[in-house]
Order: sequence, then C-alpha cells, then structure tokens
Amino acid sequence: MYVCLCNALKDRQLAAAADGAKSVGEVFRRCEARPQCGKCLPDVAKMIETARECSGALMIAAE
Ligand code: FES
Repeated sequence: MYVCLCNALKDRQLAAAADGAKSVGEVFRRCEARPQCGKCLPDVAKMIETARECSGALMIAAE
C-alpha cells in the first residue's frame, strides 16, 4: 500500500527505512526521496516509533 503518494513509497519500503532511523528526514533520505506535501509525515513518524518499540521489546526478550 502506498503511504507517500508524492514519492510513490510503499508501507514496507518506509517501514524498512524507519528501522533504526532517528527522524522522518532520515527515513526519506534512506529512500532517496524528499517529503513534498507532508501528508504522510505523521504515518512515517509512527513507523519510526513502532520500529523503536519493536526493537526495545526484542532487547527485553533477549535479557
Ligand atoms: S504523501 Fe508523502 S510527501 Fe506527500
């Protein structure tokens, strides 16, 4: 499913780029794209947060 229509970026591509990213800008740089209209930015920010939560849960599970 497309999340960023301006750059034709799909959810899987953005989620992969969000893993370990510190900012929305970093996610776009990893996708070699730039935000344009900004409509997708909240969704990309959520992806970063989800990736952080998942990696934190894995670290807790590994302890
Ligand atoms: S939908 Fe992503 S910048 Fe416009």
